Amino acid sequence: MTSEAQKMIELNQLAAKLYHYLLMETEEGYKALQYLKERGMTEASMTEFQIGFAPNHHATVSSFLEKRGADLELAVQAGLLTEREDGSVVDRFRSRIMFPITDDRGQLVGFSGRLIDQENGPKYLNTPETPLFNKRRLLYHFSEGRTEIRKREEVLLLEGFMDVISAADAGLVNGIASMGTSLTEEHIGLVRRIANRAVISYDGDRAGIEAAYKAGLLLEEKSRMEIFVLALPGGKDPDEFIKEYGAERFLEVYLHERMTWTAYKLFYLRKKRNLQNDSERLQYMDEALTEIGKLSQAVERELYLKQLADEFEISIPALKEQLQQKIVEQKGSSKRVSAEDDFLLDLAPPPDDFYGGLVSAQPVRQTLQAYHASEYLLMKAMIGSEEAFSAIHQLLDGLTFQHDEFQALYTHLMAYYLDGNGADPNRFMDYLTDPALKNLVSELVMLETPEEATSDEYLDYINSLKKTNFIRPY
Ligand code: UTP
Ligand code: MN
Repeated sequence: MTSEAQKMIELNQLAAKLYHYLLMETEEGYKALQYLKERGMTEASMTEFQIGFAPNHHATVSSFLEKRGADLELAVQAGLLTEREDGSVVDRFRSRIMFPITDDRGQLVGFSGRLIDQENGPKYLNTPETPLFNKRRLLYHFSEGRTEIRKREEVLLLEGFMDVISAADAGLVNGIASMGTSLTEEHIGLVRRIANRAVISYDGDRAGIEAAYKAGLLLEEKSRMEIFVLALPGGKDPDEFIKEYGAERFLEVYLHERMTWTAYKLFYLRKKRNLQNDSERLQYMDEALTEIGKLSQAVERELYLKQLADEFEISIPALKEQLQQKIVEQKGSSKRVSAEDDFLLDLAPPPDDFYGGLVSAQPVRQTLQAYHASEYLLMKAMIGSEEAFSAIHQLLDGLTFQHDEFQALYTHLMAYYLDGNGADPNRFMDYLTDPALKNLVSELVMLETPEEATSDEYLDYINSLKKTNFIRPY
């Protein structure tokens, strides 16, 4: 860090001490102190978060710094003072409750100041953007909450300063907030290294619901964190919720009533539709099935399918059939891409995976979804019928399966049929000795597939395999 940056941080530290002193100990700060107390903030929290007050005067900080011989030009750069046209300098923050803001290394890089009365200007005023103060990267309470986030392996994502402080007071010290910007990739980069789970608790109003959805989508895209959302009633933010229902109730919602990310997406998608209207209802169900299809665990898929079935009085088999159709459509659409595109896709992050339960049993190497689907469908057909085995064996014409497990299974299956056994998945499982292979068979058997594929379809699957094998550089 440059020495200028270091000096700006020191100026901020001086100012923070001054603001905090003015709030806690002086006549000027009394009104602000009462305001915070009325809102339920304890003095312990004020000290812990170094909350302060900037009086309604243009030269509180500037004369304080001047007396100490500080470089006022640097204080302007740090955003503590603003320069007037005539060259004189005045305090930037006036008549505001001050929240000091640290960066991810715990350095005091700026402030956010909240108006106490309805006066002019924005409710919160921040330090202007500088190389030190970049809102895309800053998260309120990140460096202070880091240890707890690591310990819980879980981060609580909030929208406001007051939410962070109330949550901490309620015992959730793993809360952080972005500052008047939506969650960015940079923010996610900071938290995903130290947490496995993100719990989003934004305001319960329309804007908060939208923001939570957007944040969740970005987390889903940019991290491997498990995502949850707290749905707070009556448009309240966490701070208001805690004031009204108490810290214990908030903890209860946090610990036991958090929504899974899928449940939240279904809730969000449902809210967008008028479910009295047949066509909108169908659209909702279609969107819901798309989300359910992304789930990797069969039990999870089952759970949401059941909820959907109950809600709309539709049979589970009917929903499963439609889910299955989606899987086939997905496979069809990946078949249409050229071999070159396939290769590029192969390098891209793994696509949403309808067969996730099975994929997770696979080696780490990621392959195309079409490739997986073809492999699974062929293997399942071969286990289910000896005729299918013969047909596919001929069509394969010496082509080997890419995954060792599948190739092993294929070899065992051939031996099994040659031994004179008829098609029978349970018997085949008994015939196998390797537990991993047994497991694979049982997963394949549970996999929902279209009834009886034709020889043409087998050929399609095999062509899809050949194409992938052909372009693979080994
Ligand atoms: P809120 O308006 O929800 O504020 O904005 P809050 O934290 O709940 O504060 P209280 O309870 O009204 O006192 C949420 C966050 O959005 C940013 C701030 O970071 C705030 O904490 N914000 C809001 C701004 O940057 N500027 C604004 O004018 C308003
Ligand atoms: Mn709020």
